[in-house]
Amino acid sequence: MKKIIKYLLWLSALGMSLLLLWFLAIRPWNPYKNVTQGVNKLIGFSQANLSEPWRITMTEEVTQQAKKYPDMRVIVTDAVDSSDRQVEDVRRLLSYGVDLLIISPTDSRALTPIVTEAYQKIPVIVLDRAVEGYDYTLYIGPDNQLIGRETGRYVSDLLGSQGGNVWEVQGRSGSPPTIDRSLGFREEIQRHPAIKTVQTVTADWLRDQAEDGLVSLFSKRPPPDIIVAQNDAMAYGAILAAKKSGVRDIKIIGVDGLEGANGGLDLLRRGLLAATFICPTGGKEAVNYAWDILEKKPGIPKKIYLRIRKVTPDTVNITTDPYVSLRHPRSNKEPIRLGFAQVGSESRWRITNTRSIKDAAKNAGIDLSFVDGQQKQENQIAAIRSFIQQKVDIIAFSPIVETGWETVLREAKAAGIPVILSDREVGIKDDTLWATFIGSDFLEEGRRAARWLLSYMKNHPTVDGQINIVELQGTVGSAPAIDRKRGFEMTLASHPEYKIIRSEVANFYFDEGKQVMRQILATEKNRIDVLFAHNDDMALGAIESIEAAGLKPGKDVVIVSVDAVKEAFQAMLAGKLNCTVECTPLLGPQLMKVIQDYFDGKELPTRIITSEEVFPAQIARSALPRRKY
Ligand code: AHR
Repeated sequence: MKKIIKYLLWLSALGMSLLLLWFLAIRPWNPYKNVTQGVNKLIGFSQANLSEPWRITMTEEVTQQAKKYPDMRVIVTDAVDSSDRQVEDVRRLLSYGVDLLIISPTDSRALTPIVTEAYQKIPVIVLDRAVEGYDYTLYIGPDNQLIGRETGRYVSDLLGSQGGNVWEVQGRSGSPPTIDRSLGFREEIQRHPAIKTVQTVTADWLRDQAEDGLVSLFSKRPPPDIIVAQNDAMAYGAILAAKKSGVRDIKIIGVDGLEGANGGLDLLRRGLLAATFICPTGGKEAVNYAWDILEKKPGIPKKIYLRIRKVTPDTVNITTDPYVSLRHPRSNKEPIRLGFAQVGSESRWRITNTRSIKDAAKNAGIDLSFVDGQQKQENQIAAIRSFIQQKVDIIAFSPIVETGWETVLREAKAAGIPVILSDREVGIKDDTLWATFIGSDFLEEGRRAARWLLSYMKNHPTVDGQINIVELQGTVGSAPAIDRKRGFEMTLASHPEYKIIRSEVANFYFDEGKQVMRQILATEKNRIDVLFAHNDDMALGAIESIEAAGLKPGKDVVIVSVDAVKEAFQAMLAGKLNCTVECTPLLGPQLMKVIQDYFDGKELPTRIITSEEVFPAQIARSALPRRKY
């Protein structure tokens, strides 16, 4: 007995020492414990590196902005551009008990698993470089393809019709901003056959590397007319290389537009740079949203794209604050007057959208004038003009189609009334004509529908391996119809067995979906494998025609649509619909938040993309109770 007691005592002593060892050695020591005790909102900021000036500015913005909030502290880690180290940094921040993580990843792919892991525990804001998938709370960053396109446009303005040669200095190879800026740039340049991009130098976003690479290139090749660098640090490297190599008369363009010695704006003022594109770091926005997320405020989007601005030597001294012409702080205490021009009431989605806007305006104390455009662009234009006449404080509208808005938007701008695009975008290049866009990524919705279809058909192959698709399109010329079609086709492009055999317009209406599908079935009944409908209403209408034709929707014809309205879930539970891709109409709270931010003098991003999911039939039952529309 004594022996057993002795043995048990020995065992528990061993257990205690192991526990102590774990506590001291394995569980990381928290050096911030004293400073963060009692802090309600502890933010971990994992920065990719603190060697690039743009990232230093980003970090500075994060820490300075956090000081504006009571009870908020930030712990910053520097991964020194090593993905392994950044994974460790995130683990360490989690072990310190941070309430929210802000991360600007070194590398999208390498950081995705740890971001997913963190997101399972706390909210995560991804800054600048995205991660793969959607396992994060919010992404904030610039639209890098747009930066590339804008650079290309300026190059073509500078070179004119006679064209010329361009060298491109790229950031780190394989990183998303490098790829996207180059893609956008080349897409634009391709439209001008006289302009040739003859050399590409990879300089990892670093000045010295750009300088060395270009000195070597200048010694071997005739200099180009223009050097396009993907950031200002490398543009400065190009300036130094040209000087060293005795090269004159070339124009150099950068991106970032930072203040400070040798920043883009300084180089412009010294006449060394032809242009830069101010690319906000998103540091301030990340902290503002971190606060809102932790305060559980409504209206948190999934993605935010920040506004970029071109600055040239002519405009550098008048655009120190590039947002000043867009911001519109309001002094009086009267309720904000908002004019909203809606498309109409063509679908369940639209009816919910209208309700969401009206309810949110009421809850926010915003005085709303609402006009139903009844599916006519001229009605929407007339409504916007009447809002201008009434001198409302702000206008929002959901453009029925992408084109034809330029004149009325210019009238609003001339009247000093900001305009917000809600749900649908316009196809206008001058992005100063609207303050921001709030809505879905329709292109991604089309891609999601196609990705779901590809995975579903793997387990449900057709007899001959061919998959014949019927597509029901929304309103011709509308952003959702254009982009859903494009996204769907893009994803299926590398799968030749998938063929769209008929693509007809049914304008997002239930009745038209039913009628158009009936007509299609009259000739194609025996060869339709799949129906892709641009919204649930058209799919629900088509289901009735499919049944009337003696086929089983959801079995004989696989059906995928967009919106995720409750009736689509009921159809999935009845086995008649296979999948719906979410497009949320609940934009009201986000719209009111943005309006209030605007009148609080905050800088608005250029695009605010809502959070959305995909609902295949097998999860319809569990998801339905959570659905709000
Ligand atoms: O613009 C959003 C689309 O418009 C919805 O998907 C559709 O149902 C609506 O009518």
